[in-house]
Amino acid sequence: MYTEILRIVESGLLKDTKKVYNYAKLLADKLDKDGNDRMSKMILKVIDSKKATTVTMDELLTTPVDQESRLSIVDVNIPYANDDIPIVLPKLIDNKIADFINVVKHQSQLAQKGVEMPNSLLLYGNPGCGKTTIAKYISEQTGLPLVIARFDAIVSSLLGNTAKNIRKIFDFADNKPCILFLDEFDAIAKARDDQYELGELKRVINSLLQNIDSFAKQNILIAATNHPELLDKAIWRRFNTVIGIGLPREDEIVKLIKTFTNDFDTDFNTDDKKLDKLAKLFVEKSPSDIKTIINNAKARTIINDRNTLQYEDVLIELFEFNNHSINLTIEKLVEYLNENGVAQSVIAERMNVSLRQIRNYLNKQS
Ligand SMILES: Nc1ncnc2c1ncn2[C@@H]1O[C@H](COP(=O)(O)OP(=O)(O)OP(=O)(O)O)[C@@H](O)[C@H]1O
Ligand SMILES: [Mg+2]
Repeated sequence: MYTEILRIVESGLLKDTKKVYNYAKLLADKLDKDGNDRMSKMILKVIDSKKATTVTMDELLTTPVDQESRLSIVDVNIPYANDDIPIVLPKLIDNKIADFINVVKHQSQLAQKGVEMPNSLLLYGNPGCGKTTIAKYISEQTGLPLVIARFDAIVSSLLGNTAKNIRKIFDFADNKPCILFLDEFDAIAKARDDQYELGELKRVINSLLQNIDSFAKQNILIAATNHPELLDKAIWRRFNTVIGIGLPREDEIVKLIKTFTNDFDTDFNTDDKKLDKLAKLFVEKSPSDIKTIINNAKARTIINDRNTLQYEDVLIELFEFNNHSINLTIEKLVEYLNENGVAQSVIAERMNVSLRQIRNYLNKQS
């Protein structure tokens, strides 16, 4: 009987990380003695990779709150060794991120040799292209907790509070083994269009710049925005790595499709023609849109008790995604499937109508 498991669950629920760590070690010892050395090694690997953060994790669990609402102004994401965040990016961006991760991993070594290497990353680009995912991926790869501050939530109706909240966030993350992630970073600049007095807003931005300056010297900072054009030049200069992320190209789309369907049997992943067709139809879509469309198609497959995700299921979801319900007629959908190579008999079966009806629809269109 492994009572340690109960203790681990209990301590986990009480957020007592030191106890989780100690009981997990005890459990690993016991398993090893009982001959289950594989499981034991796996547990030790997980706790070892977390050692650096475990010690200070308790500190990270008491997050700062907004003075008025008493709501927490940051979220803390603790990475787990088994997190495997799938991410598909163009090679050059992949390389830049790998460089960034390498510097983070070697930061203390660099500091020992007297090389002060500032490490701050600004991510910009279309919604749903992976900015938040990249921040989580970097946290997972470095084993450092991610302290997420969503600026859209922080820019409070009382600007005075905003400055205070920003300071609290930087103070909280300062000198802890973590990555500070400022998401929706443009919210601060957007406030300019609102009713705020310009002078007051300028003061908030200036204090933000000062906070960034002193923080980024020895900590790791990532910021993300969908609206780079709103950011001051002064802000851009503060980041030593800047990465713009665009919509995926066809080869990346193919990888995304494969990633999002890797837990499913499909009739298109080994069929280059179908994959190529899907990749072309998904051009101009963000990875997030592609994921939504594929997930909807998977849901349709499961609900209909089918084992294989079919090419036409994805097409149907894509068509519905592209066309608002007002434009959505069965004739148009039939035509779309037919144009994209789905056999008329398959269309009839999917649409629950006779083959003759399908031919009628198609004749009417032509
Ligand atoms: N490059 C990518 N590779 C794999 N998955 C991705 C990628 N980009 C986005 N996704 C998926 O899409 C979803 C949304 O992505 P994410 O939140 O990272 O986008 P974002 O750029 O932060 O968007 P927003 O600007 O709306 O905040 C995530 O669940 C993620 O799984
Ligand atoms: Mg995001």
